[in-house]
Amino acid sequence: RHRSEKCTVGCPVLDRCLNGGVPCRSITEFVGESGSGKTQLCLQLALSAQLPSSHGGLSASSIFIHTEFHFPFRRLHQLSGAFRTSHPDLPDPCDRVFVRAVHSADELLHLIPTIETFLVYSRSRWRPVRIVVIDSIAALFRSDFENTGSDLRRRSSLFFGISGGLRRLAKRFGLAVVVTNQVVDFIGDGDVRVGNLSDGLYSSGRRVCPALGLAWAHCVNSRVFLSRDEDGPVRRRRMSVVFAPHLPHSSSQFLIKGEGVFG
Ligand code: GTP
Repeated sequence: RHRSEKCTVGCPVLDRCLNGGVPCRSITEFVGESGSGKTQLCLQLALSAQLPSSHGGLSASSIFIHTEFHFPFRRLHQLSGAFRTSHPDLPDPCDRVFVRAVHSADELLHLIPTIETFLVYSRSRWRPVRIVVIDSIAALFRSDFENTGSDLRRRSSLFFGISGGLRRLAKRFGLAVVVTNQVVDFIGDGDVRVGNLSDGLYSSGRRVCPALGLAWAHCVNSRVFLSRDEDGPVRRRRMSVVFAPHLPHSSSQFLIKGEGVFG
């Protein structure tokens, strides 16, 4: 498979911002405050992946791992209704999104061999799984961890275990792995390296930085920041590439509508 294979996110403007879409064989992070559109974009990616390569997709199924609240089945059905209108020849897209809840970082780490078995199985049975979404990774580390030396070591070891496992699967199966991450308020200058946009990351007028620190930042290949612009007549959002191999910093506005995410 070609090393630079990408999957469309179902929006030409955002695909251009990502230089063609979400890259296969690597881990991409969507990071942003609550309501910035991370889940919406992941749902749309899971549908768009089913398109043939002539339409920017991978002719593939997706695994969607959610770690907090309930999976938004109603929203997926709504988006798939709009998707089917444009692509009536495809089978029900909801049948190609495999959903699983995970409640702790340990559980996710121990799920990786099961995911691998499922990936092998999917290759022989249906359209192969080529997208794995984890929404959100930050939620798995929000509780249960103190700021003590042993907890920080346990956290780092889980970061490396999970990201190493996902990266191995991404390479073996040509997956695009997408993880979502939250932001925290920016304090001091120690976190600048985590998001190297020279003028800092702002969302809803607040200066923020990605959660989980530098150790996690080194675990992802690309980091894409989603933000809410200050309130205007229409609630606009913005996608900005923070770091990605061979990809310049770029940024595009988008809107979330009933039918999906649009540039
Ligand atoms: P957290 O999961 O809280 O971190 O947020 P997130 O970044 O994943 O936000 P999400 O992708 O869920 O986006 C939430 C925004 O999408 C909401 O503020 C709404 O503006 C929009 N949205 C969500 N569901 C719908 C829907 O059914 N219709 C429309 N038109 N917009 C929706």
